[in-house]
Parts: sequence; structure tokens; C-alpha cells
Amino acid sequence: MVQIDLSGKVVLVLGGSRGIGEGIVRVLCSAGAVVVFTHTGKRENRTRIAALLDEIAQQGGRAEEAAVDAADPAGTAELAALVADRHGKIDGLVCNAGRNLARPVEQIDPEVWAENIELNLGSAFYGIQAVLPHMIKARFGRIVLVGSTAVFDGGSGAIDYVAAKAGMSGLMAYICRNYARGGITANIIHPSAIETELLMVRYADPDKKSRLLAEIPAGRLGKPEDIAGLAAFLLSSWGDYICGQQLVADGGRTLFNR
Ligand SMILES: NC(=O)c1ccc[n+]([C@@H]2O[C@H](COP(=O)([O-])OP(=O)(O)OC[C@H]3O[C@@H](n4cnc5c(N)ncnc54)[C@H](OP(=O)(O)O)[C@@H]3O)[C@@H](O)[C@H]2O)c1
Repeated sequence: MVQIDLSGKVVLVLGGSRGIGEGIVRVLCSAGAVVVFTHTGKRENRTRIAALLDEIAQQGGRAEEAAVDAADPAGTAELAALVADRHGKIDGLVCNAGRNLARPVEQIDPEVWAENIELNLGSAFYGIQAVLPHMIKARFGRIVLVGSTAVFDGGSGAIDYVAAKAGMSGLMAYICRNYARGGITANIIHPSAIETELLMVRYADPDKKSRLLAEIPAGRLGKPEDIAGLAAFLLSSWGDYICGQQLVADGGRTLFNR
């Protein structure tokens, strides 16, 4: 039987406590990986994170959490060192932490711009920089970035968000060109409308939500698992020959709305 087998793999997921990231954590654990995921450390999330860890443990999986701001390079490097020390290696990195605060260009002052670029793009760079020494040493690494189809159609959120997500493709290309011969690959998954808190905040209005649904040929919003399965595939041996790709998982929305 064909399976996605991640047993023995150690994967760091940046932003894994909710939504797509949580889905990725669940799927990677169920495929046998040891997963360390980060979150912001908000007090109100504690119970939910504890329940997630509990559920994974009860299913025989292994996950650990860490409150590390994804926009903190030193904290991210420290965490990577700790993971490598505790588990002996880091096979995979998933850069998923992100935020899209919809507002027009006129409302974005330099501080807001810098802050959102830092979270949406800086976090991926800091993650890559933190895991790379460990991957280089092992001559093996799988990097999966979570972008957005907004890079193809502009999206309906914020310009800083689209710019940051487009920048992630540059990170990916650079890694492939310079590190693939050393066994390290990078790919980017572009989701569109995935049913998570980040999306629902923007589509709380039922009319707006049905207009969104009408744009999706698949006839439904995406689920975190739709992205998680793809991430697991890329992190597994099935993804060994996939490098430098932009994979769109959007139920057909981007093509349909060109
Ligand atoms: N949902 C969509 O339709 C959609 C579409 C295209 C792209 N995406 C991308 O997919 C990714 C996940 O989106 P989502 O919808 O799952 O978002 P979400 O539900 O808001 O979850 C975001 C995750 O990132 C974590 N995070 C946010 N800021 C962080 C920080 N500064 N440091 C550490 N962790 C942080 C959050 O942790 P806390 O729980 O602690 O806040 C949470 O685990 C994002 O990069 C987003 O841009 C989503």
C-alpha cells in the first residue's frame, strides 16, 4: 500500500497552533514525524494547545510546542539548536506563521509595513537561517513555505502581505539554487481560501462568504488538511525530486478567476 511515511523524521513547524499549521502538525504526526511547533504564547490558547498535544499523544504521535515569536531571529535560532540537540537533527521546516490584515495602501505606514513584512517574510528567512546549519551538516533538508495565491491575483487583503508572500518565492528559489546539491530542497504551497480563523475574520459577512464560495470551482472552502497533505507529501520521500515549485492548492479558484 502506498503511504506517506515520515517515521524517524523531525520537523519544525513555525505557527502550528491553529488553522493550517495545526492541520499540518496533526497530519505530520499521524505520518510518524516528531513535530515541534511554535505559537505566540497567548494565554487564551494554552488549553487548546494542551488538548492538541494530548490528542496527538493519545494517537501514539509525538509533538512538542514552543512559544517563540516567529519574527524573532534569536529565539528561532535558539529553538532550532534546542530541537537539533534534543532530537539529533532537523529534517524538515514548515514556515507557516502569517497574518493578513486587510486594509488599503493609504493606511499602511512604514511601521506597519515593516512589522508585517517581518512576520510574513522575515519569519521564513529566520526559520531557514536557523535550520540550515543543521541540514547542511546532515546533507538533508526539506523546506516547505506557506505562501498565498494572493501572489497571483493580488488577493483582497493587504499589499504588505502579498509583497511578503511573493518574497517567499525568492527565498525558495535561492535555497534551491544554492543548497539543493547539498540535499536540501525547498518548495512553496499557495493556499487560497482555507477555512481558518484568519480567513473567517475577513469573511464573517454571509454575503461576502457566498461570493467567495462562488469563485471556487471545487464548490467549497479549503480545509487545513488540504494543505497539510501536500506538506506531508513534500516532506516525505515522495517529494525528493520536487524542488523549487510553487504548488497551488485552491480548489481551482485562481485559474477560474483569471
Ligand atoms: N486561511 C487562508 O485562507 C489562507 C490563504 C492563503 C494563505 N494562508 C497562509 O497560511 C498560513 C496560516 O494561515 P491560517 O489561516 O492557518 O492562520 P491562523 O488561523 O491565523 O493561524 C496562524 C498561526 O500562526 C501562528 N502565528 C501567528 N503569528 C505568529 C508569531 N508572531 N509567532 C509565532 N506564531 C505565530 C499562530 O499562533 P497563535 O495561535 O499563537 O496566534 C497560528 O498558529 C499563513 O501564513 C497565511 O498567510 C492562509
